[in-house]
Amino acid sequence: MEIRPENPSDYAAIGRLTRAAFAPMPFSEGTEAECIEKLRGDGDLTLSLVAIRDAEVVGHIAFSPVFIDESFDGWYGLGPVSASPEVQRTGIGSALINEGLERLKQMDAKGCALIGDPAYYSRFGFVGDGRLSYRNLPARIVQWLAFYDAEPSGVLRYSPGLE
Ligand SMILES: CC(C)(COP(=O)(O)OP(=O)(O)OC[C@H]1O[C@@H](n2cnc3c(N)ncnc32)[C@H](O)[C@@H]1OP(=O)(O)O)[C@@H](O)C(=O)NCCC(=O)NCCS
Repeated sequence: MEIRPENPSDYAAIGRLTRAAFAPMPFSEGTEAECIEKLRGDGDLTLSLVAIRDAEVVGHIAFSPVFIDESFDGWYGLGPVSASPEVQRTGIGSALINEGLERLKQMDAKGCALIGDPAYYSRFGFVGDGRLSYRNLPARIVQWLAFYDAEPSGVLRYSPGLE
């Protein structure tokens, strides 16, 4: 499997994959593909990686700037992330997350935040301990991973495409 940054010829496949992956998810409002397009159009798609298997896009992950107490300080949001339904649970999501976090570090990012299931994201080192808050969501699903010592604290806000 190859993981590489998106290029314009991937846009349609990313949209299809994202719609297919999120369609069965009860928490999804079905807007994730449009969110990615809005981030891209706004110039907020800091990092967009695709996973390629047999010349097909089978996974995708997006990272965009996030704000903590209304200021940007080198933190990025993870998501949406998706793996093609036929090949989920074969390591694609994990590979995309690990590669994305490594690339963020190389960009001198301070850390990464996300909203998601701790049962999945804790394995990458994310913690949901209440240091970040998002609307009225439970603290445990508002998670962060600091690349250096600086721990975040405050109210999380995403780029407009994801708000
Ligand atoms: C979440 C997702 C990207 C993970 O990608 P993946 O390639 O299937 O995951 P991996 O193969 O790297 O890891 C598999 C492990 O992740 C865990 N896992 C996968 N999806 C999970 C979920 N939604 N919640 C909790 N754990 C999950 C399982 O424990 C699995 O381990 P197991 O097979 O030993 O039980 C993929 O399942 C997906 O596209 N889901 C639909 C879209 C979505 O929910 N995106 C995340 C929104 S926060």
